[in-house]
Amino acid sequence: MKKLKHLFDRNLSWASNIKEKNPEFFSQLSEQQAPEYLWIGCSDSRVPANQIVNLPPGEVFVHRNIANVVVHTDLNCLSVIQYAVEILKVKHIVVCGHYGCGGIRASMEDTEHGLIDNWLRHIKDVIRFNADKLHNLEGDEKLNLLCELNAMEQVMNVCNTTIVQNAWKNSVDLTVHGWVYSIEDGILKDLDICISSKQQLDEKKLESQ
Ligand code: CO
Repeated sequence: MKKLKHLFDRNLSWASNIKEKNPEFFSQLSEQQAPEYLWIGCSDSRVPANQIVNLPPGEVFVHRNIANVVVHTDLNCLSVIQYAVEILKVKHIVVCGHYGCGGIRASMEDTEHGLIDNWLRHIKDVIRFNADKLHNLEGDEKLNLLCELNAMEQVMNVCNTTIVQNAWKNSVDLTVHGWVYSIEDGILKDLDICISSKQQLDEKKLESQ
């Protein structure tokens, strides 16, 4: 068990299943990747990007972290966005939150969690920005609205990166979407925040004032 043999066995059967259906699958994919989508989601094991949208390897470029946060100065996330937009030329960036997110739940508590509290600080900011929408709510209702509001805030953060701003300046066809996923029934919901230009971003900013 030390070497996780069962995972290698699962890998062999997975790869041979795919090759049975399409013998050229891996050799074709090894030559290039041309995904249309960048997925920014939560690290939660129940929210696997490709499986949720039922797409095979090669179709989705993925960045995941706790609570799908896009921090203005996070070189890891920014590098993923830059590579996706400038090299892979994805057409869509999806920020996908999920209901019942443990990171978001932790950010609502006063308990100390150690190092991660510094990361969750960004979600506490989202709570502060949306205090008027959240102050009357309790429990799961509050948590789930915050999961939606956080995904929407991270959409704005993606749009405000120099990478996306420059893409729009150069008339690149690029849309940023906000979604939320339900771990209870496996269904995605579009949060109706779908931004394709600086003008649309400015309109959204005015709406939220
Ligand atoms: Co989560």
